[in-house]
Amino acid sequence: MSVSNSIQIIICHNRTCRKQGAAKVLQAFQAANFSVGVITPSGCLGSCGNGPMVLVLPEQVWYDHVTPEQVPSIWASIDS
Ligand code: FES
Repeated sequence: MSVSNSIQIIICHNRTCRKQGAAKVLQAFQAANFSVGVITPSGCLGSCGNGPMVLVLPEQVWYDHVTPEQVPSIWASIDS
C-alpha cells in the first residue's frame, strides 16, 4: 500500500453534519479498516449544510455530501 501513515481523514461531527448522516460516514471509514494514519471526528469544518463534510490531510482535499457508500471510492482516490 502506498498510503502514508501521515494521512488524516477528518469527518465533521458537529450538529449539522450529524443531522446529515456523519455518524454513518465515520462508521463506514472505521469499519473499512484502512491502514491509514488517523480517522478523526471533528468539530465544524465551516461548510455547514454541505455535509457530511470530510477533509483529507495533508493534501487538504475536501469532500461534501459524503455517504457511507462513497467511502471506498474516496479511499481509492487517496490511495492513487
Ligand atoms: S457542521 Fe459540519 S461543516 Fe459545520
